[in-house]
Amino acid sequence: MEYEIDLEGSIEIAEGIYWIGFYDQQAGLHCNPYLIVDNDEAIVIDGGSRPDFATVMMKILQTGIIPDQIIALLYQHYDPDLCGSIPNFEDIIKRDDLRIISDSANLMFIRHYSVSTRLLPISKIDYQYRFSSGRTLRFIKTPYAHSGGSFVTFDPQSGILFSSDLFGSEGLEWELFLKLRPECMGCVELSDCPLGRSNCPINNILNFHRKLMPSAKALNYALKKILDIPFSMIAPQHGSVINDKKIIRYVFEQLTNLKGVGIDAIVKDDYDFDFGDLRKRFK
Ligand SMILES: [Fe+2]
Ligand SMILES: [Fe+2]
Repeated sequence: MEYEIDLEGSIEIAEGIYWIGFYDQQAGLHCNPYLIVDNDEAIVIDGGSRPDFATVMMKILQTGIIPDQIIALLYQHYDPDLCGSIPNFEDIIKRDDLRIISDSANLMFIRHYSVSTRLLPISKIDYQYRFSSGRTLRFIKTPYAHSGGSFVTFDPQSGILFSSDLFGSEGLEWELFLKLRPECMGCVELSDCPLGRSNCPINNILNFHRKLMPSAKALNYALKKILDIPFSMIAPQHGSVINDKKIIRYVFEQLTNLKGVGIDAIVKDDYDFDFGDLRKRFK
């Protein structure tokens, strides 16, 4: 069913789970923070950049959640596009028990954004977070996809996988839920759309991964780990939510076959690192 989505407001993508992002039509890179509400508790996932904070906070308020109900801020790595607004959240949430949750390899850097909040490594909570109700979020490490401490978050209740930069995309044309025409599946002309579309969303996803992921090895390792998770929807930190099984499979196929990822595009696998005579160089 086709329907208009009001991107000016928060959008409930599953029961109690909200997209609280900001669609900047001038920017190619949109950030997708999410809010999970469980009874009177809420968690913000990858809260967003500093300039986006006012919009993100307004959208949180629109869901009926007040700042003091936010019990934790979850960051799946430490980039400024998701962590930049940590000081703003700290200013507005008046709770002594607020936690910033992340992998310890990320917290090493996240602590430089944070003024007052206690940091909670996912290793200390057995890679899962339990709300008071018992609802549990699971954290799965995806090292070097793209940060050393990167991980993804699975919510078994909704079936959503919050994938951070994985399955992300960059491009001026954007939609909250990725839609493809049947002809798009199996298309090999990604850079020159046979349907005349000026911007191929799959091409945008692939280019984003070529640019952001350090190598095909890191990307494939993450994809393999994700494949073991019984998710039904992917909610990335950039680009579009993917909730169609056929599209998920198609994107998976494209990503697992991706070439020229990160350093792979610069240094060939058989490159011979001849460092010469180091004794001569450093005599
Ligand atoms: Fe990132
Ligand atoms: Fe990002």
